[in-house]
Amino acid sequence: MVSRFADDQYLVVMNVNTHHRTLVVPGHERLLTTLRERFHLFSPRYGCGTGHCGACVVLVNGEPVPSCLLLTVRQQNGVIETLEGVEDDAIMTRLMTAFAEEHAAQCGYCSPGLLLSARHLLKSCPNPTQSEIQTELSSHICRCTGYYAPLRAIIKVRDSHAMD
Ligand code: FES
Ligand code: FES
Repeated sequence: MVSRFADDQYLVVMNVNTHHRTLVVPGHERLLTTLRERFHLFSPRYGCGTGHCGACVVLVNGEPVPSCLLLTVRQQNGVIETLEGVEDDAIMTRLMTAFAEEHAAQCGYCSPGLLLSARHLLKSCPNPTQSEIQTELSSHICRCTGYYAPLRAIIKVRDSHAMD
């Protein structure tokens, strides 16, 4: 349960990239703002602010969600992961290498959200079909790559994964 601290100020406890965090936030503050401005985690980015572009996607209790839509006060006892927290794990390392090899990151603005969603897909469904990958990609807007490069990169990791 969230404690009301003062007028429109709430005490929230959450876990961010394995660190226990206690903070006081106004009721209207979005998780994206909290992550960037309080914790200096800059991989989640502001794009549309309406849940459509995927630039702000982070993992909340293991699921990829747009952090621009979430109120921080609603994340009491939540487990939040950003790219900074998972960039060294095996699947993410492969994805980042494949994105570089396939030129799937150009300006890079969309990349953290895209990478987190791709990692989630490969962890929850190790052998996704092309159509399942395209469905995952459809919740992200990339202005640079035309989507084929990220698709190729994710397929490359899926196939290398299958050969392990
Ligand atoms: S900024 Fe959150 S989905 Fe676009
Ligand atoms: S790489 Fe530029 S928006 Fe996706």
